Formats: sequence, C-alpha cells, structure tokens
Amino acid sequence: MRGDKSSALMSVEIGPFDPSSATDIELAESYAVMSAVMTEDHPGQALPPLEEYVALIRRPRTALGPMSRWVAREAGHIVAAASVSLPENENRHLTIVRVIVPPERRRQGIGTALLRAVLPAAVADGRTVVVGTGVKAEASGELWARELGFVRTEAYVRQFLTIADVDPALWERPVAEGFRLERWTGAVSEALLEEYARARTAMLDAPHGESAVEFEDWTPERVREHEADHRARGIENRVVVAVHEDSGRVAAMTEVELWASQPGEAAQQDTVVAADFRGRGLGLAIKGAMLRWLTADRPAIGQVWTHTVHDNTHMIRINHALGYVTTAALAYVEVGADELVKRLEAR
Ligand SMILES: CC(C)(COP(=O)(O)OP(=O)(O)OC[C@H]1O[C@@H](n2cnc3c(N)ncnc32)[C@H](O)[C@@H]1OP(=O)(O)O)[C@@H](O)C(=O)NCCC(=O)NCCS
Repeated sequence: MRGDKSSALMSVEIGPFDPSSATDIELAESYAVMSAVMTEDHPGQALPPLEEYVALIRRPRTALGPMSRWVAREAGHIVAAASVSLPENENRHLTIVRVIVPPERRRQGIGTALLRAVLPAAVADGRTVVVGTGVKAEASGELWARELGFVRTEAYVRQFLTIADVDPALWERPVAEGFRLERWTGAVSEALLEEYARARTAMLDAPHGESAVEFEDWTPERVREHEADHRARGIENRVVVAVHEDSGRVAAMTEVELWASQPGEAAQQDTVVAADFRGRGLGLAIKGAMLRWLTADRPAIGQVWTHTVHDNTHMIRINHALGYVTTAALAYVEVGADELVKRLEAR
C-alpha cells in the first residue's frame, strides 16, 4: 500500500499557483477541484459560476491577510490545491491553511504533500500555529487533520433559510422600546461610523471555543477598509442596526453579503448585540428586519445561509425562530507549527 502510494505521489508535482497569470485551462481545472470538494462536503449548496470563482480567487478577502495558492499537478494538470493566509493584524502568530483534494484522488498522500510544501514559508514568517477552517466535522478533513496532530478548537454550524418554506410572519419582530432601526447598503454614515465600529468590536466576547484565532478589534478605519473590500470584490453589503435612542449607541448590528452572480442567495455574516443590550430581542429584531428588507426588494433570493459557533445557543435559537435549519457541523482545527513539522517528518 505504501509502495503504491509513493509511486502515485512521484508523478505529482507541487508548485505555486497565481490566479492572475494562470491560463483558462488552469483556472478551469482549479474550479473543478473546488467544485468536486464542495459538492461532496456540502451537497445542495450553490457554487459560484466559473467566472465569479476566478474573480474571487484573484481578489481574496483582505481581512485574512495576504493569501498564496499552491496546486498539485500531474502530467501538467491540476489535481488538488491549497491556500495559505498570513493574517497581518491580531493574528500574526497564525497561518490559515486550506487543503483540498477531490474525492477520487484521496488517500494517495497528495493532501499531506501539499501541506508539507506550504508550511516552510509560514514557519519562516514566524507563524507558530497552523489553523484549518471550514473543516466539515468528522468528515475527511477533520479525520486527516487529526492524524497530523491538529485538534478541534471550535465547532460551528452551517444554517440555511429557504424563503419559500418559511412563514414571513416569523420575521415580524418589532424593535424594543427606546431603540430605532437603521439600515444601509455599502457604507455607514459618518454620523454612525464610530458607534458602529464599537458595536462590531462587541463580537470580541462572542463564544469562540479554545481557538487561538482572535476576533478583529474594529476601528472606524477598519470599517471603511471592510466596506472598500466589499466594493472591490463586487459584493453588495447590507447592514441593519438598532440604535439606542438615549445614548446614540449602536446596540446591535447584522450584515448580509449579496453576490451579483448568485441572485438566488444571500450570505448572513456577523450579527452582534453589545453585552449591555442583550436579552431585549434586538438580535431577532435586526435579523427579522434584514429578512423583510431582502425579500421585499430582492424577490429572486430563495436561500440565506449563515455560520454560527455551535455553543452560541442564543444565536442558534434566534436563527431557528426565524426559520433557519441546521445543515452541517464544521470545525476549526489547530496545531502548533513545530508539532506539525515533527509529525510530517515522521510520516
Ligand atoms: C482532507 C483532505 C485534503 C485529505 O487529502 P488526502 O490527499 O486524501 O490526504 P492524505 O492522503 O495525505 O492522508 C494522509 C493521512 O491522513 C489520514 N486520513 C486522510 N483522510 C482520511 C479519512 N477520510 N479518514 C480517516 N483518515 C484519513 C490517513 O491517516 C491518511 O494516511 P493513510 O491513507 O496512509 O491512512 C481531503 O480529504 C479533502 O479535500 N477534504 C475536504 C476539504 C477539507 O476538509 N480540507 C481540510 C481543510 S484544512
């Protein structure tokens, strides 16, 4: 078995992959790898069309720091891929790695070979912890990672709301007395900017397991960068907030992303209720208002999806109350870089 594996691996070459200079064939092969893995792990989830996928990999999210991509090639064709991000702000001790191998090429050592190839640059950059995100719990990714010494530090759930299956009355959630709702697309007004950044920072005390990943400390500049990032990536960013009338503070915020090429879907991103405003139904009120807004002027949206930390029972309960159903359990996995180097040497 080992012999078969090393002869299969000998024909595989690992090298960097730059989406900006890749040929159309390489981009299509890279898309096929992503599609095969996503279809297996998340059947039923819409995939971006090739053109949008290419635009996205050419412009990854800046919040995670610069990303480099690697591929495994056989006879010149891309058969598997990896990406490595090196966060530049709170998380300079981390490297975030994602390795994907299509089902028909698994258990041939390709995933491990990719990891082995990408690790030295991260270690040379001083990264002491290696993190895998979006790993489907108890599926191939987590089993593989466990074998290499990673441990699960956080579990979260993916939840879907299918608009046609849900009674819109569930979204009629009036905001508590003493608060008003505000909403915008793209950019917060200067008047609310500072308070909005402060509200986003309240995410810092959301449950996040044992993970070494730190949440972002939002500043007005970070908010503007985040908005510019969305514009640059062609994503419409909608926000609903609850403002506390007496203090002018932003007590709660929720954010949705809309991708031009996927008019049927919305991605529900961060929702935060500041600690001293919890327990007043503000989470339900802002998320309900967001769903009413989306369905009123975007009738093509059939599905909204979101991710929530598994022990954030309040948020999960809110989502269920609005009609979301849980479809998958996912995990963050982590290992010390030194430990991983040792494990890889021993294999
Ligand atoms: C995780 C993944 C990249 C592994 O790729 P791979 O090329 O099959 O991995 P390897 O062949 O290098 O596996 C090395 C060892 O990990 C363990 N392993 C890998 N997949 C496993 C599985 N499904 N069940 C149990 N152990 C597994 C085995 O010990 C294996 O060695 P062996 O085959 O000699 O027993 C691939 O399954 C995948 O793309 N999964 C979906 C995406 C994902 O979750 N990626 C991880 C995110 S960081």
